[in-house]
Amino acid sequence: MVDTVRPLRDRVSAPESLPLPSHPDVAAWRPATVADIDGIWQLDRAMDRVDHPNYLATRDEIAEDFGFSHFNPALDSLVGLDAEGRIVANGMVMFPPGQQTLVRSVLHGGVHPELRGRGIGRELLAWQLGRAKQQLASSPKTLPGWVIAFSDERAPQNARLYERGGLTLARHFLALERVLADPIREIALADGIRIAPYTPELSAAVHAARDEVFMDHWSSQPISAEGWDAFVGAEVFRGDLSFVALGPGPGGTEEIVGFILTTVNEDDWERQGFPGSYISLVGVRRNWRGRHIAQALLSVQLAASRAAGHERATLDVDSASATGALGLYTGMGFTPTNREFAFTHEF
Ligand SMILES: CC(C)(COP(=O)(O)OP(=O)(O)OC[C@H]1O[C@@H](n2cnc3c(N)ncnc32)[C@H](O)[C@@H]1OP(=O)(O)O)[C@@H](O)C(=O)NCCC(=O)NCCS
Repeated sequence: MVDTVRPLRDRVSAPESLPLPSHPDVAAWRPATVADIDGIWQLDRAMDRVDHPNYLATRDEIAEDFGFSHFNPALDSLVGLDAEGRIVANGMVMFPPGQQTLVRSVLHGGVHPELRGRGIGRELLAWQLGRAKQQLASSPKTLPGWVIAFSDERAPQNARLYERGGLTLARHFLALERVLADPIREIALADGIRIAPYTPELSAAVHAARDEVFMDHWSSQPISAEGWDAFVGAEVFRGDLSFVALGPGPGGTEEIVGFILTTVNEDDWERQGFPGSYISLVGVRRNWRGRHIAQALLSVQLAASRAAGHERATLDVDSASATGALGLYTGMGFTPTNREFAFTHEF
């Protein structure tokens, strides 16, 4: 039973100072700065090509992290450089706001494939765990505190590293694919409920709906305004392949009852083997569930994606989704491809 009576700052013992790691194959360690965005991107791409070649980090994602007001690179990041000054290791420890039911320290990073198996990752993870504990120990909240890290099934060395670092496997997520040439069922909705295109004017209302809906999703917390703006403002976000479900609201108005939001990264098409769209977020507000609204949103998204010339749609789902999301997707013709593991250390 997690002790959530005492505040995290009394429950988590954190190192006061964090010495830089040391390793014979790393010439220098230091915090990252915005000037390192390209170097970190190159490292991430080299790692992703090996760990999960069907999707690679975008430069935008890394730049976004550096833009968040809750990220202080001087304290929350570390890079390791080789003798030529190339970034060969990177660790980021994100401490997102919006801690409604859970306080999370999220670990990202890794070691260049050419330098793996030499103990650099262990050094890096030890530093990250120290920083994560400092973050959690800074919190006055009486909530559970989690260190959380993700690892693709195709990169088992990451999983071993996390387990050796004291994290435990908490959950697995399934990547699913749907062939768009297969028939797409049209779904009829009850009177008063309709699907409409996403438009930027709906952004704030969809953000509110997302935060409400995803409180039912494992480990999810509200997204900050800047986090949301970064998501819908990203180059890969595709408003034209995103939709909302509208239902009757108070006083004859319509309100958002569901949404489906899509990204497309054409840079991934060659490696993933097909042109496709990625369904980032699907949600239906609680009082509106079980009325086939999610099915209708998926049906419209799949048809739009097919019309855009895509061959497959992809998404990720929590394999143990309490709201039945996996059954929803398999029922709509999606089949599993890869798995990703979530590891946690819970305080
Ligand atoms: C998952 C979610 C989007 C489903 O929305 P919904 O509008 O209720 O789904 P639908 O009514 O279209 O359900 C379609 C099918 O999904 C399956 N399904 C939906 N909820 C289910 C549940 N609680 N248990 C089992 N199966 C379920 C059923 O097969 C259902 O078809 P049927 O009614 O013909 O049997 C909604 O519960 C939600 O927003 N959950 C929280 C956010 C989330 O987890 N999103 C998915 C992230 S990957």
